[in-house]
Amino acid sequence: MDTTPVTAPGNDILVAEEVTKVFPGVIANDAVNLNVRRGEIHCLLGENGAGKTTLADILYGVYRPDDGRVLLNGEPLDLHSPRDAIEAGIGMVHQHFELVPPMSVIENVVIGTGAKQWLDLSEARRRLEEFFADYDVEIDPDAEVGRLSVGEQQWVEIFKTLYFGVEILILDEPTAVLTPQGVDELFRILRQMRDEGLTIILITHKLREVIALSDRVTVLRRGEVVGTVNTADVEQRDLARMMVGRDVLMQADKAQHDTGEVVLKIDDIHLASDTGRGSLKGLSLDVRGGEILGIAGVSGNGQNALFDAVVGVRHPEQGTIRIADADTTHAPPHKVALQGVASVPGDRIAQGLMMDFSVKENLILGNQRARRFARAGVLNRAEIDRFADESIEHFEIKTPSASQTTSTLSGGNLQKIIMARELSGEPRLIIVHQPTRGLDIAASEYVRRRLIEERDRGVAVLLMSEDLDEIFQLSDRIAVIYDGRIDYVAEPEATSLEEIGLYMAGVVEAAGAAP
Ligand SMILES: Nc1ncnc2c1ncn2[C@@H]1O[C@H](COP(=O)(O)OP(=O)(O)OP(=O)(O)O)[C@@H](O)[C@H]1O
Ligand SMILES: [Mg+2]
Repeated sequence: MDTTPVTAPGNDILVAEEVTKVFPGVIANDAVNLNVRRGEIHCLLGENGAGKTTLADILYGVYRPDDGRVLLNGEPLDLHSPRDAIEAGIGMVHQHFELVPPMSVIENVVIGTGAKQWLDLSEARRRLEEFFADYDVEIDPDAEVGRLSVGEQQWVEIFKTLYFGVEILILDEPTAVLTPQGVDELFRILRQMRDEGLTIILITHKLREVIALSDRVTVLRRGEVVGTVNTADVEQRDLARMMVGRDVLMQADKAQHDTGEVVLKIDDIHLASDTGRGSLKGLSLDVRGGEILGIAGVSGNGQNALFDAVVGVRHPEQGTIRIADADTTHAPPHKVALQGVASVPGDRIAQGLMMDFSVKENLILGNQRARRFARAGVLNRAEIDRFADESIEHFEIKTPSASQTTSTLSGGNLQKIIMARELSGEPRLIIVHQPTRGLDIAASEYVRRRLIEERDRGVAVLLMSEDLDEIFQLSDRIAVIYDGRIDYVAEPEATSLEEIGLYMAGVVEAAGAAP
């Protein structure tokens, strides 16, 4: 495999030359060279903390480089803000949407364009309708954004950016939230946009997507460019090696083994949607010791409600939840935890971290009184340090030190802290929601291996994920959650990605399949 830069003079639209960006204690971009050609789909790939978002933010005017420069069509580009970038024809969709949910699609688009165009709603409507027709997207311009699916919301974000007439579109992990059908749709449209001359820079952790979609790939590692390659010349394995610097297992190996007693039994629970975290409408399931039950589903179909009910944050109005011998239907969270329940919520950053605390403190948060870390109320600092260093090493948490302030870590590295902490006890039941969302392949590999190890130890694992590859890889049984219920359960060998995808989208009604 040839990893020397592939350059074609005269073809470049956007070039980063020796771009360096330093944050306290870390060189996020270290003399980065990137050349993006007009009309290509160029993927940026790299582990958590490799510097992808930082580089994109520099191209989009969020940060100014400490050294080096950016050229657009051969001319030096001096950006002071995203507004400058948009004026220069560069747009970006960040991973977290910036839409206003109670407003309509059209209002969201027009707001993005500034007050002046506010008057020109009819012009906006015309362009919006034309755009959706061109790309075969069925979205009602008058629909309230909060009621659209995540995939549709992403379209609104993308259109908002394109509305400014940008020539270069940067997308930071756009597929993390989509169903398989949603990803196909996005890719179809991105290809069409490329064929019409748009240049696309795409950040993703999913190698399959990189191979399927991109023309070229630039791999970053620890702030440096490892290389730029033509996608046609490489396989997933090559990209993984470039990213990680070693061979990576692409498959989590899972041996057959017997399951034990039922650890979690949920019977016909109902939960009203009073907190905006979804509702349950008669959901039943059981998970045995030594079994991973994978729950596939598009977000917003009751995953959060199910999570809340199991961990005791909310209590069902009807139905029962049993963990081993205990009825926990109405037990508060600390009583549930005492039953040996470890949990990793989907919105872990909001729920699970103290951003101003050090990495070390967050790694033992909630466990600081555990016997391992304290005796008679006195903290065992040596043991805490050992545990922190061990976690940082195993999960490859990219941080200058265990004492670093947590808020400065990259998105994926924040997630690793919580996973490390939650998997450190000896639980009887583990409930995880999107355990590898935003994690790079090495960290995902480690987390998946750990979940399988726990299952082999006899732990019951309830895994909720929108990543179907992950569901298929890990699950002993797969269930689909749709509209607050589970009406379809199958063994992985007895179903397919497509079939699960259709149930997730609610396209097929479960015909006689019972949990
Ligand atoms: N505002 C900041 N202050 C301090 N350090 C930062 C800041 N932003 C990013 N960093 C650091 O710069 C490095 C690169 O971060 P960046 O967000 O670019 O990574 P990334 O490749 O996008 O990772 P991920 O896949 O986890 O999103 C990380 O070590 C991160 O901790
Ligand atoms: Mg990032």
